[in-house]
Amino acid sequence: MVRLKSTPTRLSLSVDVETELSHCLITSFDDDGPMQLEHSQVPCEMKAVVTTGIGGYDKLELMRVSVPVPGPGEVVLKVLAAGVNNTDINTRLGWYSHSVTQGTGGTVVAERHDGGWQGATPFPIIQGADCCGQIVSMGANCDKNRLGQRVLVRPCMRKDGFDRMDHMWMGSDFDGSFAQYVKVPENETFTVRSAWSDAQLATIPCAYGTAENMVHRAGVEAGMRVLVPGASGGVGSALVQLCNRRGAEIFAVTAASKRDAISRIGAHHVLSREDDLLGLLGPESIDVVIDNVAGRAFDMMLKLLRRGGRYVSSGAIAGPIVSLDMRVMYLKDITLIGCTAWDEPVFRNLIGYVERDQIRPLLAKTYPLDQIIWAQKDFQEKRHIGKFVLIPL
Ligand SMILES: NC(=O)c1ccc[n+]([C@@H]2O[C@H](COP(=O)([O-])OP(=O)(O)OC[C@H]3O[C@@H](n4cnc5c(N)ncnc54)[C@H](OP(=O)(O)O)[C@@H]3O)[C@@H](O)[C@H]2O)c1
Repeated sequence: MVRLKSTPTRLSLSVDVETELSHCLITSFDDDGPMQLEHSQVPCEMKAVVTTGIGGYDKLELMRVSVPVPGPGEVVLKVLAAGVNNTDINTRLGWYSHSVTQGTGGTVVAERHDGGWQGATPFPIIQGADCCGQIVSMGANCDKNRLGQRVLVRPCMRKDGFDRMDHMWMGSDFDGSFAQYVKVPENETFTVRSAWSDAQLATIPCAYGTAENMVHRAGVEAGMRVLVPGASGGVGSALVQLCNRRGAEIFAVTAASKRDAISRIGAHHVLSREDDLLGLLGPESIDVVIDNVAGRAFDMMLKLLRRGGRYVSSGAIAGPIVSLDMRVMYLKDITLIGCTAWDEPVFRNLIGYVERDQIRPLLAKTYPLDQIIWAQKDFQEKRHIGKFVLIPL
C-alpha cells in the first residue's frame, strides 16, 4: 500500500503522487481467466480509505492500493455509493471489546485488541458495509451476463450455510466499500431494478437488512403493537417502514425535535425519549419491542411487553450493559432475541420491497469519500434522520 497525505477532516492525495491511476486491461476472456466489461478499463490501483488500527480519526488514511483480482465465484464491483454506519466507527474505536461499557457515541478507545465483531479486527482494513456497485470484472464460474449490472451487496455473509449462525461481515471481517472497487462473492450480489439513485440504494443494505432480519425473527404480523426506540436512526427508520408494510401498529420513540418527521415516515404513535413510556402506554401493552438503543431504558422495555412478548435487538447505542430483573423476564414468558446473522430470505425480500417501492430511502446527505471524517463527525451528532452516504472519488 502507498500511504497518502491526510488532514484532520479531509483526506487528500499529496500533489506529488496524484497522477492518473494506470490501467491494466485484462484481455483474457476464456472460461478460466477473469473477465471484465470491455469499456470499464479496471485499473491496477485504486484509492481507498484504509483504517490502520484502533484509534481516532487519524487511523483513517487515504491510500493507493491494488484493485482486488476476482477468483473463482467472485466479482469486482466499481463502488458507486457506500453508506456510513455506526459499525465503521465502533470497529475503529474497538467498541465491541468487553472492556468498553459505555454507549457508542463516545470516543473511548478499547484497551485490548478484541474490539471487532469476531475478536480482533484484521487491520489494516478497508471498511464499509454498504455498497451499491456495478459489476466490472469476474472470475471463473460466474454468470457473464451479469457484467455491467447495478447491484447491492449483502454484507452479512453466511458462508457455512443458513443452518449455522457463523457469518462474515463485509467491512468488518474483510475489505469493504470505502474504496473505488471492492471484491465480493458473486452470490452475495443482488441485481436491483429500480429508479432509485445509487446513493439512495446505498442507504439500504446494513440498516434495512438488519431491521428486516429483526422483524422477520420476531414474527411481526398485522395488528401487532410494536415499539421502536431510536426511530430516526438508520435501523429505526427502516423498522418503522418495514413493520408498517406488515400492518403492525407502530409506537416510535425519538428525540422530541424529530417527532413530526417520524410520523411522516409511517409511525402511528410517536413518543419522546423523555416521556414516561410506562405511564403513557401502561404495563403489558406492547407485543414486540425492537430495540437497538438499550442502555438504561432496557428494564422498562420488558415491563412494557405483554406476557409472551418478544424483545429483539441487534445494537446497544445507549449502552451495552443493562439491568435485567430475571423475574420480569421469566414470570412473563418473555423471549429475548439477539440478531446479527441474517436469515436466508431477508435480503432477497428486501430487494423485492425496493423494486416494488414498498419502502423508501431516507438519504440525509452525501459526501465525497475523501470527506469521510466530516461524514462521521456529522453522523455522530445524530441530528439527521436516515442515512449518510459516501461517493467514491
Ligand atoms: N448487529 C448488527 O448487525 C447491527 C447492524 C446495524 C446497526 N447495529 C447497531 O444498531 C444501533 C443503531 O444503528 P443505526 O444505524 O440505526 O444508528 P443511527 O443511525 O446512528 O441511529 C441511532 C439512533 O438511536 C437514537 N438514540 C437514542 N439514544 C441514543 C444515545 N444515547 N446515543 C445515540 N443515539 C441514541 C437516536 O435516535 P432518536 O433521536 O430517534 O432517538 C439515534 O439517531 C447501533 O448501535 C449500531 O451499531 C447493529
